[in-house]
Amino acid sequence: MCGLPLMHDPNLIVGMESGDDAGVYKLRDDLAIVQTIDFITPIVDDPYTFGQIAAANSLSDVYAMGGKPVTAMNVVCFPVGSLDISVLKQILHGGLDKMREAGVVLVGGHSVDDEELKYGLSVTGVVHPDKVVVRDGARLGDRLILTKPLGTGIMTTALKGGVVDDETLAPVVSSMATLNMKASELMQEIGVNACTDITGFGLVGHARGMIDKNQLGLEIMIDAVPIFRGVNQFSEMGLVPGGTGRNMDFYRKSIDLDGDIDRQMLDILFDPQTSGGLLIAVPKDKAEALLKGLHRNGINQAAIIGEVVSKPAGKIVIRK
Ligand code: CO
Ligand code: CO
Repeated sequence: MCGLPLMHDPNLIVGMESGDDAGVYKLRDDLAIVQTIDFITPIVDDPYTFGQIAAANSLSDVYAMGGKPVTAMNVVCFPVGSLDISVLKQILHGGLDKMREAGVVLVGGHSVDDEELKYGLSVTGVVHPDKVVVRDGARLGDRLILTKPLGTGIMTTALKGGVVDDETLAPVVSSMATLNMKASELMQEIGVNACTDITGFGLVGHARGMIDKNQLGLEIMIDAVPIFRGVNQFSEMGLVPGGTGRNMDFYRKSIDLDGDIDRQMLDILFDPQTSGGLLIAVPKDKAEALLKGLHRNGINQAAIIGEVVSKPAGKIVIRK
């Protein structure tokens, strides 16, 4: 917001200054709304699939707050002069099918003629005001669970470079189109301390947000981090999106490397994700139960990737 004065309201539970995934506003003592908007440019060739991914990506911020999305509006930028309208129809169809799966009702939308195609949703969800899962609530000893593998940025860059075969791409596309709904429900059932979804700032950037204010540190065990098959190879080939370097520059001071960790692995930890998984800080004694629950519900690649430690405060130690 470029330093503009923020608005204050006693019912605003999570506002802009928190840097959280979505805003939360209390309507009643037992009801708050969760609001977010997100739209992206195409990352896969098939319009229907892109629509699914864009919608899953937009809904994710509500899930990251522990909310249940209820209504959504389409946000569309479409090059009317250069693309056939049937392409837009397929994109919206993909989005609509995801909304249906999420139990979300489409209530409207807005479109503009734009040279560059973009699609996403503005989403409103609900949550009990006492059950909001913020980003920076991690506590000492918490285990960190990541629910989806990393590498969507590198993989879609490789796709643009024309070097990915369908078999390698398929699990990545399917993961990006997968809602974080079930993972969010499971974390709410079990009770967790913090959550955020992994998107543009990469695993490290979003993990850093968990320890912004609480004088704690994080340890990430690199061998435990799930990564899509093929990502290592493409990262070695230098097929890395532009955002990776920006993320690395910005968060370099926040990481300590312990062990022999090569540049290619760092590229993966900083890889900007589209529709990435949830990163959850869960009390140690509940971590195994949550992990089992995720696996039982088809979130097979969810893994405990690290823990919350006392020092160095404000740092993420990456261990080999
Ligand atoms: Co988010
Ligand atoms: Co977002």
